[in-house]
Amino acid sequence: MTTPRPRVAVLASGRGSNLAALLAARDRGELPVDFVLVGSDQAAAGALRLAEAAGIPTLALDPRGYPDRRAFDLDLFARIAASGADLLVLAGFMRIIDAAALAPWIGRMINIHPSLLPKYRGLHTHRRALAAGDREHGASVHFVTAELDGGPVIAQARIPIHPGDDEQQLAQRLLSQEHRLLPAALALLASHRLQWHDQAPQFDGKPLLTPLELGAHGLLAPGNPQVQPDTGRLDT
Ligand code: GRF
Repeated sequence: MTTPRPRVAVLASGRGSNLAALLAARDRGELPVDFVLVGSDQAAAGALRLAEAAGIPTLALDPRGYPDRRAFDLDLFARIAASGADLLVLAGFMRIIDAAALAPWIGRMINIHPSLLPKYRGLHTHRRALAAGDREHGASVHFVTAELDGGPVIAQARIPIHPGDDEQQLAQRLLSQEHRLLPAALALLASHRLQWHDQAPQFDGKPLLTPLELGAHGLLAPGNPQVQPDTGRLDT
């Protein structure tokens, strides 16, 4: 008996290059999932056009048609549930989500954020990394919880910041890594190597204490072991 492919919904507010990367990974056979819905709060989002071209059902909901954020989020998430999705990916969805709406999805919903979390939650991450004089920047995929960009980090991609980099150059260089990171992280969730267990992520049946790192070949592997400061013990 073959295991059914997980059904995935995606929410995106913008151009949808991360969605395009997910679809390309699926088409290459690297991401065995079925995309059942692409939703947006922006009717003009490029992501919706990409989904239409790929034959994926789309949903555009205008938050201005609702009395408040909670009403919008509850309707949006009810429609996502009705799509039959098992997993939900936020790929550039530029809204804070109400805690009650997202609660049923905890452990099944991931987000990609353009910083090395916990650094730089929220907006303007590239600008803030440059202003801080960081020598390294990156992107994170994390489980979504009610805390904005605050859920447990699953995987990260790192890039050096070069002298003279501006915000746009940095964003562009990072984006190409995001396009490898998000499909790789979703593939782990889809295959159940990555799971949510007792309010925390597990990888291959063990607690994931340190984010997985994206390697040169686009594969995710355990990051550096965490040294426990009080005992010097290594936790892998
Ligand atoms: C990406 O940089 C992602 O990390 C952030 O929003 C951007 C979305 O880009 N959350 P795109 O719409 O996928 O091209």
